[in-house]
Amino acid sequence: MIGIFDSGIGGLTVVRAVMDRLPGYDIVYFGDIARTPYGNKSPETVIEYSRQNTDFLIRQGAKIIVMACNTASSVATEALKESCSLPIFEVITPAVTHALSVTRKSIIGVIGTRATIESGIYEKKIKNKNPGASVFSAPCPLLVPLVEEGWLKRPETRMIVKKYLHPLKTRQIDTLILGCTHYPLLKPIIAHKIGRRVTVIDSSTTIADDIRSFLDASPDIDATLTKNSTAVFYVSDITKQFQKTAAAVIRQPIHLKTIRL
Ligand code: DGL
Repeated sequence: MIGIFDSGIGGLTVVRAVMDRLPGYDIVYFGDIARTPYGNKSPETVIEYSRQNTDFLIRQGAKIIVMACNTASSVATEALKESCSLPIFEVITPAVTHALSVTRKSIIGVIGTRATIESGIYEKKIKNKNPGASVFSAPCPLLVPLVEEGWLKRPETRMIVKKYLHPLKTRQIDTLILGCTHYPLLKPIIAHKIGRRVTVIDSSTTIADDIRSFLDASPDIDATLTKNSTAVFYVSDITKQFQKTAAAVIRQPIHLKTIRL
């Protein structure tokens, strides 16, 4: 099984992308709704939660672990790789690689939660690979609650997106990384507000492509993954609103099982 976790239901954007790009692979998902959001928690807390989420997925039979959450990927990757022997995937590196391959002027924008932006991880990784690149980041803390409310097309959402993107627009970025699970759902608004000349990178699809390439190159690990087209979804809490948003994110009816870690 491919084990995928997120702080809540936003990570279902990654599940959707994995289902589209790796059809047939069994998936077990854990969304930590009871403790969401991670985006304004300390790195220590996010690391602790990420360890617990990973242990749960392993107990369910996961043979590889995917951190769908940008915040967890930003602060917990190293700690998790130290304590877990399974292959661990994070969403940052594939998005960075893709951004660097498409940028024309090497002026890249990144948006994410406060924790992700404060970690500086995107900037670090971009500059590691291309020291000449310029990186401009903006935390967008209001976007997660707007998506969770289902306000995907509201004028208020458009206005807030415009305000958040303004500083990046003035820097004339040519590539924008959506560094948060929820932002792919706002991609049409974001793409419109940032302008046609900017390439928008969706980290949910880049990580799915990364897993695909890894499995193609690692047949021994691929062989450990079952392929019966099943997907099981666990959450640590559930409300009607989350149930509704989850179905909208994954674009199919979904049954969420509640589990306390
Ligand atoms: N999943 C988080 C991320 O991608 C967004 C929601 C949260 O703050 O927990 O950064």
